Amino acid sequence: MQAYIQQHKNRFISELLDLLRIPSISADSRYKNDVRKAAEFIREKLIAAGADSAELCETPGHPIVYGQKIIDASLPTILVYGHYDVQPADPLDLWHSPPFEPVIKDEKIYARGACDDKGQVYMHLKALETMLATGNLTCNVKFMIEGEEEVGSDNLGNFVKANKEKLQADVILISDTGIISNDCPSLTSGLRGLSYLEVEVTGPNRDLHSGMYGGAVANPINILCEMIASLKDENKHITIPGFYDEVVELSREERDEMAKAPFNLEEYKKDLNIGDVHGETSYSTTERVSIRPTLDVNGIWGGYTGEGSKTVIPSQAFAKISMRLVPNQSPEKITELFTKHFLAIAPKSVKVKVKPHHGGEPVVTPIDSVAFRAASKAFEEAWGKTPIPKREGGSIPIVALFEKELGLKSVLMGFGLDSDAIHSPNEHYGLFNYIKGIETIPLFYKYYTTLSKTEGR
Ligand code: BES
Ligand code: MN
Ligand code: MN
Repeated sequence: MQAYIQQHKNRFISELLDLLRIPSISADSRYKNDVRKAAEFIREKLIAAGADSAELCETPGHPIVYGQKIIDASLPTILVYGHYDVQPADPLDLWHSPPFEPVIKDEKIYARGACDDKGQVYMHLKALETMLATGNLTCNVKFMIEGEEEVGSDNLGNFVKANKEKLQADVILISDTGIISNDCPSLTSGLRGLSYLEVEVTGPNRDLHSGMYGGAVANPINILCEMIASLKDENKHITIPGFYDEVVELSREERDEMAKAPFNLEEYKKDLNIGDVHGETSYSTTERVSIRPTLDVNGIWGGYTGEGSKTVIPSQAFAKISMRLVPNQSPEKITELFTKHFLAIAPKSVKVKVKPHHGGEPVVTPIDSVAFRAASKAFEEAWGKTPIPKREGGSIPIVALFEKELGLKSVLMGFGLDSDAIHSPNEHYGLFNYIKGIETIPLFYKYYTTLSKTEGR
């Protein structure tokens, strides 16, 4: 298989570049046709790789690509999940090259979606091609690649519920996360959940002259800032009553184990060009971004932001706020607690509305399962190192739903790096990681098939 991958390496890269040229931004309705084009591209390439069938499954939103290769019903089945949609590319002026005109520089592919998640999805298609072309496919495989992950996977849940038979499998395999570094591979053992909402603060019934009224009437922007600031105390502990009630605290041993993973604070600060880190007292940076919940403002607006100045007390102010959740916090409950608290702290001088957006459950995956051990052995063989289990801070809301609706656990075998700048300008993906991923995936198939034969699925 190594030889096949080396031989076809250039084509594997150029095909990915073709996929990256399609601006499949799911959040922006102007790109609806492009999102479909990306789905069609994946469908065609599944067939070209040797899948028995591949189709676009329509939803009220963007289509889901489903394909499969069944070689023997008595063998295990791996269900590969990923997403072909991408985040919006703005701010555009910070890109060194246009986000949908991929370029290779310093052994990295620069484009929106290069790592999250087109590059990582495409590794799976090329791994399938490689296994089939070299006679190495050891089990059945199904692909479910969606186009709405970056906007909350609104329609995937219904698709999964309506297609349980079709999606029957033994394990779900996902490459949409990262590793610690290329010298220190890791396997994701957990993801945070999410509760996302928008708040609206209304003061006077119209924008006012800030000289005539300033000082006597509540300014909704000032009030919104005060309210947001009060959501954390001096220890950066979130003040919403009940917020931490369900949080699973890790034991000292578990935290010590976590602390063994390499992390360099100086490099971290240097990479981000920050004078210091910032977060909850008595937790390390690694813990703050994985096992602890957060509350962050993702956007805030109101008043005059145009050129020059305008002396005005705006009538309204808005913010988008997200909370990352950890086991066993429930997004519904947290959204409810936030809403109740936010309304309760609003002064009488303003009216406040809270609108919930999407959410997602946190997950932790077992690290002793057959599937996890198979992934571990795959890394050992391809990378020459045993991967470290690592809980990640990002969210893939659908993972919890797979478990609930299909009864299936996921293996989170991602190959990205924190420095790949996903969701940011100049997103990129290392050619090394792309090719290494294509080598690692077939080894997971091999070890999963053999281990599940001797130990059960
Ligand atoms: N691939 C990411 C999630 C991720 C990134 C997990 C890095 C672990 C490490 C995914 O595409 C993503 O961006 N998810 C969103 C979820 C949201 C849109 C519901 C997130 O985490 O913000
Ligand atoms: Mn992703
Ligand atoms: Mn993403």
